[in-house]
Amino acid sequence: MSGTVIAIDGPAASGKSSTARAVAEALGFAHLDSGSLYRAVTLVAIGEGERRGTDPAGVDPDTTLRSAEDRGLLLYPDGAGFAAYLDGVPVDGPIREPAVTRYVSAVSAMPAVREWVNARLRSLVRSGRNVVVDGRDIGTVVFPDAPLKVFLTASPEARAGRRISQRGHVIDVDELARETAALAARDEADSARPVAPLRRADDAVDIDSTRLTFEEQVGRIVALARERLHAG
Ligand code: DC
Repeated sequence: MSGTVIAIDGPAASGKSSTARAVAEALGFAHLDSGSLYRAVTLVAIGEGERRGTDPAGVDPDTTLRSAEDRGLLLYPDGAGFAAYLDGVPVDGPIREPAVTRYVSAVSAMPAVREWVNARLRSLVRSGRNVVVDGRDIGTVVFPDAPLKVFLTASPEARAGRRISQRGHVIDVDELARETAALAARDEADSARPVAPLRRADDAVDIDSTRLTFEEQVGRIVALARERLHAG
């Protein structure tokens, strides 16, 4: 029996992952962060690139995926979510390193990588767990039948401001302008890529969090889930 899926998609720095985790905790669902699997595959591609002395983005995806399987890459249940494991150890730290962030867009644009990741996400849901899944194409491609889809967004300025405050210093105007421009460029790249671009599903509920607190945006999604799915 498949579990129930709540899909949360949206652009970079829209707060999808932290929101998805809080929604999952409120409902007693597990949080499934699809980006963590793309990041873990990218870590494997970096290892293959190092072995060959080539750029990770140039490693053939079949080679990367074979290596991922040989090294036992998987998402393993961990508390309220899943942790990525490689070679039998958790890699949640290494997959957030800047080197992975630099190459993950190129690796996640490869169709073979997307199919591999999607098959794993679907098999986790087939195992029967109720999950809140966050990503870019969850409601459009991976789980198009999800009974609740949310498209979470916020203005580029608000997202840039939140990202800078995570760095722990006061926001200055120049840094805000640079970060806003960088996010707008990433939005454009994610939306323009030919495979599974970032796109709002036709039946998704839009939540613009520009003027909402974190608690308010989580509360709206939890309320929708209770209303539509009688969840939690
Ligand atoms: O959410 P994140 O920043 O950890 O995602 C890492 C990368 O993976 C990001 O560049 C976009 C990609 N990604 C994707 O293409 N599709 C998804 N469903 C999730 C992430």
